[in-house]
Amino acid sequence: MTRDEILGLILKAGSESLAVFGGEFEGGWHIQQVPEELADALHYLSDRNYTNYLEVGAAAGGTARLFKEALGIENVYVIDNNSHPRTALRKQILPDAVEWIGNARSSQAILQLMQWNVKFDLVLLDAEHHYDGVFQYLWIIAPFLAKDAVVCVHDIFSDPGTLHFWREIQLGLWSPAKADRFFGTRLGIGIIRWDEPKRVPVPFHIITPTCRPALLETIDRVFSVYPMRLSPRWHVIAEPACREFDCLSHVHEVIFDGQPGSWGGAQRNVGLESVDSGWVYFLDDDNLLHPALEHVFLRSISLQPKKKAWAFRQVDKNGEVWVAANPPVGFRRVDTGSVVIDRKFIGEERWDYNYTADVTFYERLYRKSPESWGFIDIPCCFYNALR
Ligand SMILES: C[S@@+](CC[C@H](N)C(=O)[O-])C[C@H]1O[C@@H](n2cnc3c(N)ncnc32)[C@H](O)[C@@H]1O
Repeated sequence: MTRDEILGLILKAGSESLAVFGGEFEGGWHIQQVPEELADALHYLSDRNYTNYLEVGAAAGGTARLFKEALGIENVYVIDNNSHPRTALRKQILPDAVEWIGNARSSQAILQLMQWNVKFDLVLLDAEHHYDGVFQYLWIIAPFLAKDAVVCVHDIFSDPGTLHFWREIQLGLWSPAKADRFFGTRLGIGIIRWDEPKRVPVPFHIITPTCRPALLETIDRVFSVYPMRLSPRWHVIAEPACREFDCLSHVHEVIFDGQPGSWGGAQRNVGLESVDSGWVYFLDDDNLLHPALEHVFLRSISLQPKKKAWAFRQVDKNGEVWVAANPPVGFRRVDTGSVVIDRKFIGEERWDYNYTADVTFYERLYRKSPESWGFIDIPCCFYNALR
């Protein structure tokens, strides 16, 4: 289709609001896009074929329908929490889409994406328009992007946070996401090309104590889906009850015969014995790794290579703040899964065997050298997400 044919299709589809988006009439597919911006973007994208399209925030589904028709897409997927009043129209406008209704920043979204088991080659991010929203959507879908996938981000100009995000992509700060093109002067559509993620030789160990065999399978699945840039060694310290599970093919597994009921402390200490250098991350078996972690961590250590410990934000299942990353380290300010720490910096320090162990272990290491700690308030882990 030519650019003008695409524009004609958009104008015929109908606008959500002439005052906000423009167009010829209100209604129809209730498109929430500036017609000329979308026509330019779709025309630019039409130089290749796409199979699996995902729209994060689809409202009435009109824009997804346009992508499908203008680009001849086979499969359309939607993630939407249905908070928008037009979402009920999607049943008619986009009847064949595969949908998941929920928060795109939540751990449930990741588990759903794992269940779909699809690699997306085209994505539109158009749900919440603020930095935290677009940043998390990008990393949450990242493990599910095909090689050379295209990710479109809408409403770049509608919020300083989305514009800031786009500027960071343009500056190349979030490899393998690369800014490609930008369309528009009113709302703005940024086009990101997804490069092949480049592995980096940063030694990274994940230590997971587990006494819950059912969760091992999930850990194994998560491990096979991501991360993409680090090649972590995953040390699973399993209690004897887990022995019958043989799914952890890529994981270094240690059977723990010590003290159950030590809040994971004893098992983490066993894990520490098999690591003598590199970075260590303690991920409990009911926490879910946030796909942003490796990217935020790699950027943090490249900016401040002298830091020995990094505290990141931990969010709950729904993506809301559980512990924010701010100094100092202390009770309710840090959790097991919110810290990445240098093994040499840990030295002979060990975990206690009680429920405050998460805090006291890190607190001692913080007191030893507060200046060695960095704090980045970006999500790295979903707390208790697998329970
Ligand atoms: C701006 S509208 C989408 C417009 C649509 N893409 C279009 O072009 O016509 C934003 C959509 O995101 C959904 N949404 C908002 N926050 C969300 C979240 N955290 N997770 C999933 N969907 C969300 C809303 O229900 C709404 O349907």
